[in-house]
Amino acid sequence: MENQALPNHVAIIMDGNGRWALERGKPRTFGHREGAKTLKKLCRYAFDRGLKYLSVFAFSTENFKRSEEEVSTLMNLFIEYFQKEFDFVKKDHVKVVFSGRRNPLPEKVLSVMDRMMEETKGNDGPVFNICLNYGGQAEIADMTKNISKLVLDGKIDIDKIDETLIQHHLYQDLPPVDFVIRTSGELRISNFMLYQVAYAEFYFPKVYFPDFDEEQFALALLEYQKRNRRFGGVKA
Ligand code: FPP
Repeated sequence: MENQALPNHVAIIMDGNGRWALERGKPRTFGHREGAKTLKKLCRYAFDRGLKYLSVFAFSTENFKRSEEEVSTLMNLFIEYFQKEFDFVKKDHVKVVFSGRRNPLPEKVLSVMDRMMEETKGNDGPVFNICLNYGGQAEIADMTKNISKLVLDGKIDIDKIDETLIQHHLYQDLPPVDFVIRTSGELRISNFMLYQVAYAEFYFPKVYFPDFDEEQFALALLEYQKRNRRFGGVKA
């Protein structure tokens, strides 16, 4: 019966790649490479265990402020992973979606993202939501613009705007996040899925993301299963 208590939607802030590498006397980019390997392992583990929705914070809108070398390493990692390393998603019927603004992502990254979305859009398995050039406040601003246009064009009545309609107009129409994991011990949300985490449980393991392996993930899920969620109601 363990599966009943698994979170429906897990969101991971993959923090600490840079520190992981620096502590080993390596460049920060080495940490991102290791982080990518960890992500691949975690995805397989999560979907094997029957997790239905997995969101990950791959690149924030603010990450463009990092050095040119770090940004281009990350962009090349995305291309490499979306082109070949994430191939297992097709076999496992995973539907891959992206959240974030397209501009100013490089054309090559956009084209591999589009291909992966196109190739998996008919899949009826778990959903893997990759937040790339993503910001939670930007998402709320973009949603507001989109709904406003619909109201101005007479396509929806202003009184129809409620929490569910807003959810339908975010970058992806996904169920609320149940469990947020942020590795590396930092206790911040950093503009991640602000609307979707309203009633989420939070977990902050001290390990850096490259060390957040399947065993760590299993511990995190066990911790979630112990939480008593109340959604603003009374204690069960
Ligand atoms: C935060 O750690 C991590 C990132 C900004 C990048 C996350 C990207 C990956 C794990 C690469 C793979 C992703 C895909 C989708 C293939 P940080 O660099 O801010 O760490 P620090 O706080 O120690 O500096």
